[in-house]
Amino acid sequence: ARKIIIDTDPGQDDAVAILLALASPEDIDLLGITAVAGNVPLALTQKNARIVCELAGKPDTRVFAGCDAPMHRKLVTAEHVHGKTGLDGPQMDDPKMPLQAQHGVDFIIETLRSEPTGTVTLCPIGPLTNIATAFEKAPDIIPRIQEIVLMGGGYFEGGNITPVAEFNIYVDPEAAKIVFDSGVPLVVMPLDVTHKALTTKARIDAFRAMGTKVGDMVAAWTDFFERFDMEKYGSEGAPLHDPCTIAYLIDPTLFTGRHINVEIETESELTLGMTVADWWRVTDRAPNALFIGDLDAEGFYALLADRLKRL
Ligand code: BDR
Ligand code: CA
Repeated sequence: ARKIIIDTDPGQDDAVAILLALASPEDIDLLGITAVAGNVPLALTQKNARIVCELAGKPDTRVFAGCDAPMHRKLVTAEHVHGKTGLDGPQMDDPKMPLQAQHGVDFIIETLRSEPTGTVTLCPIGPLTNIATAFEKAPDIIPRIQEIVLMGGGYFEGGNITPVAEFNIYVDPEAAKIVFDSGVPLVVMPLDVTHKALTTKARIDAFRAMGTKVGDMVAAWTDFFERFDMEKYGSEGAPLHDPCTIAYLIDPTLFTGRHINVEIETESELTLGMTVADWWRVTDRAPNALFIGDLDAEGFYALLADRLKRL
């Protein structure tokens, strides 16, 4: 099983990503979860991460609180998508499992220093603040990372928080730039692919038909989360962004993309946080990312249903 750290700002789609990882121990060894401010403030994201671990029946999972604000900017949140709690939809109880005392950034640093080089993958599915802060604090960890598989950016699809910027990159563009320029092998799940992973009614019904608490919660979350995108874009369902990263780790054959150069815009007010992706290779800038463009959506939802059933 591949050793990973999930860095997250739950978020209904983050929650499904965490559940998929916890349901897949033969593929994924989840060393810990680091929460970051993003969809909602840190006090809620760290709490939501624990709610999800308890729901999965895995209260021993280590959850850490990381950075409560972007590196150089004020936090922008997304209650308009995820609701006031970040996990609006079903009724939820407060978690009983503890939050770890260590700061999330220090956990990332300590883990990368103590595990053998090239054996730990980072899976960021929120703004990249914790990861970039760890890189600034401890540059020695950078060459020790096996891979970073992240959700963020968009190119042909445009943006979802500005016309050209995707939320995770936009919230902390300086952090994103540090990560994209770091030289660590990157796999990027942009909106171009996540907008093809739509929660149709049939797919939500399949979660509910599991007849488990997890199935009911996931159905209620995806029902809630769906509303915004369907109303706004008229799509047949909401994009289930973040689980694409975990699905890729379990079965990369579900996805296709290109090794290309991707740069982050950090200066222009108009295009702040844009992922400038050289999809057609029109520059000679060296590739720094596997930029995913397509997925087998049926296969992706089949994997999700199959794994989540186990919890
Ligand atoms: C990303 O932003 C968040 O709202 C989602 O959880 C996802 O990580 C999509 O742009
Ligand atoms: Ca997220």
